[in-house]
Amino acid sequence: MKLPITLIGEDSLALASLRQQLEKEVSVSVDSRVYGYGEVLDALKTRNGPIVAVVDINRDPERSFSIAEEIKLKFPNARLVMTSPTGAPDTILRAMRSGAEEFLAQPFDWNQVLKSFDVIRKKVDVHTTKVGEHGHIIAVSSNKGGVGSTTAATNLAACLVAQKKSVCLVDLVLQFGSVTSFLNLDASYTILDLVKNLKRIDPLFLDGSLVKHASGIRVLAEPFYAEDARRITPADIEEILGVLAQSFDYVVVDTPKEFDDMLALVLDKAGLILFITEMDVPSLKSAHRALELFERMGIYDKKIRLILNRYVKSRLMTLESVEKALGVKVFWTLPNNYPVAIAAVNQGFSLQDCDAKSDIAKSYSGLTDAVVNTFVHIGGTRAAVADERRPGLLGRLLPPVRGLIK
Ligand SMILES: Nc1ncnc2c1ncn2[C@@H]1O[C@H](COP(=O)(O)OP(=O)(O)OP(=O)(O)O)[C@@H](O)[C@H]1O
Ligand SMILES: [Mg+2]
Repeated sequence: MKLPITLIGEDSLALASLRQQLEKEVSVSVDSRVYGYGEVLDALKTRNGPIVAVVDINRDPERSFSIAEEIKLKFPNARLVMTSPTGAPDTILRAMRSGAEEFLAQPFDWNQVLKSFDVIRKKVDVHTTKVGEHGHIIAVSSNKGGVGSTTAATNLAACLVAQKKSVCLVDLVLQFGSVTSFLNLDASYTILDLVKNLKRIDPLFLDGSLVKHASGIRVLAEPFYAEDARRITPADIEEILGVLAQSFDYVVVDTPKEFDDMLALVLDKAGLILFITEMDVPSLKSAHRALELFERMGIYDKKIRLILNRYVKSRLMTLESVEKALGVKVFWTLPNNYPVAIAAVNQGFSLQDCDAKSDIAKSYSGLTDAVVNTFVHIGGTRAAVADERRPGLLGRLLPPVRGLIK
């Protein structure tokens, strides 16, 4: 694929000549003209794919540095190259501080120019499609509001990134999703842009469509407008998940609570379903109904893992009684820690970055290890809970999910 290049400068003869040279290069696609400072931000806004901007530090160095900084601020995924007739160390340093990743001295040394664009291409290609290799799709699911799915999806993604895995976090809560708010991100593009351009998705395009969190998570955001959710079909989602799974080690999906064709598809595509619930009777009743539905839909199999969020030990309701009632083993319990959970969300941090020593951050690290291990030993452990029901609080409230208890 061609590396798209935008040239930016005022009356820049150097860029005009660079443009002529680049036009002859088959591996790049340079814009048909050099953009002035006043017009380039609007022009870049209309772009769908990745952005590689070359800014000339010529007439007005301060203005060129500030335009470079503005490009990085508004388009955090943009790759920036700066060029100047003066190769003075302080100019280069200032360029780097403004966000430039490469510096081209003028007059241009053509070999150097090509080398610099090669470096940029490699960075853009960081998620190059690995043909034949597939990452793991993890659906984080629950059927009751507020039980902690988005917290779980976001923090699992953050912990996987901390383990040096490439991770794309997908917000499939297409109406009013909250992943970008949890991570305090401003997305320039959303899943709708991918849907509109399904035919031209390649690694470069994909890279430009995702928003990057400081932790390293790439996020595919929900549409800007809730009413656009209906423009996205299960077939679109299937294609997008396929592309993402080829490009990332893990694709973590925050799923909607309502069961529909879209959710059925995601649960089907997922290699692992983390089903989140809480340990109160209404949540468990609701979880029970969801597990029954999964079974009726043929979704229930070895890939469901039950996670109890905000777990507090209780003699009245034990883990064993939950397992008996739901017919599925508890895979993980997450402690209740509202102060750290809310502080993380309010700052757009992962729990690890907010307070790595907290019980909740440590628990997420453990959960992540367990998830990674599950993929290593996949094929594992559908709950085999003994069909021995002692009368207890939950036993009375919830008849076990038929067929799940062995
Ligand atoms: N283990 C926990 N301890 C304390 N608070 C938590 C915990 N997990 C999540 N929370 C908090 O609970 C609230 C709801 O969590 P979250 O938004 O992740 O749930 P959800 O299931 O995605 O909700 P929604 O139905 O809105 O999608 C958030 O304020 C979050 O910070
Ligand atoms: Mg949510």
